[in-house]
Amino acid sequence: MATKAKPDLTSIAPAHGVRHAAIIMDGNGRWAKKRLLPRVAGHRAGVEAVRRVARAAQELGLECLTLYAFSSENWKRPASEVSDLMGLLRHFIQSDIDEFHANGVRLRVIGNYRALDPALVEMIDGAMARTAGNSGPIVAIALNYGAQDEMVRAVRELAARAANGDVAAQDIGVADIDAALYTADLPPLDLMIRTSGEQRLSNFLLWQAAYAELYFTDMLWPDFDGRALAQALDAFRLRDRRFGGL
Ligand code: FPP
Repeated sequence: MATKAKPDLTSIAPAHGVRHAAIIMDGNGRWAKKRLLPRVAGHRAGVEAVRRVARAAQELGLECLTLYAFSSENWKRPASEVSDLMGLLRHFIQSDIDEFHANGVRLRVIGNYRALDPALVEMIDGAMARTAGNSGPIVAIALNYGAQDEMVRAVRELAARAANGDVAAQDIGVADIDAALYTADLPPLDLMIRTSGEQRLSNFLLWQAAYAELYFTDMLWPDFDGRALAQALDAFRLRDRRFGGL
């Protein structure tokens, strides 16, 4: 029986120059609707896409892949959908952490995840601690994350330091704000991808995206794969990044 050849991703996107890519994984619901399936089936298929894309990110040499899994605004969804998403996340962390660890991946969670169910928080902390010493790429999952919340937290932290006399208010600069964000120890964001044809940032990494290249695709998240990631990296390679210069 003929076996399907695995695409050689490194030949699709050579020397792309992306250290850190982030993805707004949109379109799970529409993917399910097109198939007359319940929304949760779209989220399940979305988890499969997360697995494929995390593997591909490593093959393609990314240092960091940040995925928007649950926003601080997603609590507005019906309780049953929130519960389905939390269940999928719990299952994902439980079932995939061995593979991440074996591949040298470092799992990170960004966002106010400490406000989630204590059992899930414990599982996340355990998974992060277990993989923290690895030397491979970082897969950062944004959970209960909102960029405006993140900036409010950073401002409060810096205001408290200023009130304590640890820093003078007029000395606070970009690097201090960078250091007070969840992403403090992640590489600078190069590329922001959003699937499903929507063209907005939806409160994701707003500070970090200051000079990121934006890439939008009509593909629904459950259809996204390593080849689609490689295409995004190829598109990035052709961009002219000037960072405000000439
Ligand atoms: C947006 O699609 C997607 C989400 C709000 C959740 C993303 C979650 C996953 C991919 C699964 C869990 C993730 C991990 C890391 C295990 P939508 O439901 O808004 O789609 P629609 O706009 O088509 O309705």
